[in-house]
Amino acid sequence: MKREQWKSQLGFLLAAVGSAIGLGNIWRFSYMAYDNGGGAFLIPYLTALLTAGIPLLILEFGMGHERVGSAPLACAKIKKNWEWLGWWAVTFVMFGIVLYYTVVIAWCLNFFVLSFNLGWGNDPDSYFFKDFLSVSKAPSEIGQIRSPIFAALVIVWFMNWFVLHRGVQKGIELANKIFMPFLFFLTAVLVFWSLTLDGAMDGIRAYLAPDFSKLSEPKVWIDAYSQIFFTLSLGFGIMIAYASYLPEKSNISKNAILTGLINSGYSLFAGLGVFSVLGFMATSQEKPISEIVSQSIGLAFVAYPKAVSLIPGGNLFGAIFFLCLVLAGLSSSISIIEAFTSAMVDKFGLRRKYFISAVSILGFLGSIIFATQAGLLWLDIVDHFLTHYGLVVVGIFECILVGWFFRLKVLRKHINRISSFKLGTWWDIAIKYFVPLVLGIILCWDLFNELSKPYGGYSWTSLILIGAGWVLLSLLAAFILASRPWKTEQNKTSRRSL
Ligand code: ALA
Repeated sequence: MKREQWKSQLGFLLAAVGSAIGLGNIWRFSYMAYDNGGGAFLIPYLTALLTAGIPLLILEFGMGHERVGSAPLACAKIKKNWEWLGWWAVTFVMFGIVLYYTVVIAWCLNFFVLSFNLGWGNDPDSYFFKDFLSVSKAPSEIGQIRSPIFAALVIVWFMNWFVLHRGVQKGIELANKIFMPFLFFLTAVLVFWSLTLDGAMDGIRAYLAPDFSKLSEPKVWIDAYSQIFFTLSLGFGIMIAYASYLPEKSNISKNAILTGLINSGYSLFAGLGVFSVLGFMATSQEKPISEIVSQSIGLAFVAYPKAVSLIPGGNLFGAIFFLCLVLAGLSSSISIIEAFTSAMVDKFGLRRKYFISAVSILGFLGSIIFATQAGLLWLDIVDHFLTHYGLVVVGIFECILVGWFFRLKVLRKHINRISSFKLGTWWDIAIKYFVPLVLGIILCWDLFNELSKPYGGYSWTSLILIGAGWVLLSLLAAFILASRPWKTEQNKTSRRSL
């Protein structure tokens, strides 16, 4: 079977940017920046982008392109008994991250509709947690499925299925060619609108005024590196699969640098809008901004609706904001499902169209747990464990696999032969030593914190059963998938550089 390919380099770039720009860019970034010293956070953030984000993105693009395969195939073609690593990445993102990610998109879809008549009423806080989510007291109290979330979830999975079953060119590429320009346009409207609000400048000041004393706190640096990792979809197996659909002559390093810069540029720009609105709220309620900014989920679903109710013409403003989240979220969820699909098609030679339908149904069923009354609690735990112990560990092993068990120079030569931006030995140093070291420190720090007190105040039983259990089960599934025999000849086909 011939491997599908992108129609154009621009199509590939937009798909990679679509995967990178997601729910995390709009509110998680803004909140993190504010919490970690405002403008001063940009120093660790940009350092993380340049020293780890872009080098790893080049690595993932390079692996997928040179070995011509999805994550498990690329790993297997580097070293046979490392196939599990690729499987692990695509398994925990498909049967973990995307399950709750789609539920958050479903919340956004609900809030998009609610915006038109400000359906959250006078008390968005109580509306969100009590009426809308009806959050239970503990993760073990599952309660009922929330029907508005369930209904939106059906739409979200249908959209994922609809785009993906049309294939790489007619599905993913076309969707991103429509979604991305539309998202940029809507975001620009939102940002310029917010800048005209009373008090906007106070918000911008809170967002950007640097508090350099924060730079001495390790947490700030760790947050910056983790944010770069999540936001660039590194360790998900996505960028490897996407690069495997590139033609022979492709500008790998230029595309990686552009993806990194566009993604971070978007976050910075969207942050201006988010904080102008918070500044406006602080002014109209005569409260300091620090009282307005709550934790990250609250920022989008509580603070924003409050502001929308106060802005003249706020209905439209709210609708645009939640539509942006839906668009950004969908292009990322599509990419996650594709990473897993591509792996299954590569190994078992499954018919893509049938498989997409099956996996969309399975994914939908799996997400239902996050649409129950305990959904928010499960989401919080699973997200914490998978992003801290899944993505970061995959990143470390990728560097070890390629840096230490593979001739890194071969890969660099391959990338340099076809790219306009030539990589120097600095890249080898980053992949072999720097990135694994930094990620290793983050991992140790996280583990230390994990063991010193239960995350989020949950019971140890919930954390072990739901969080650690999810990580370990996906690892087990990865080993099982890796142990199955290849049903295709894909693992024997040629590489591009040898
Ligand atoms: N990169 C995607 C995001 O930031 C997953 O949401």
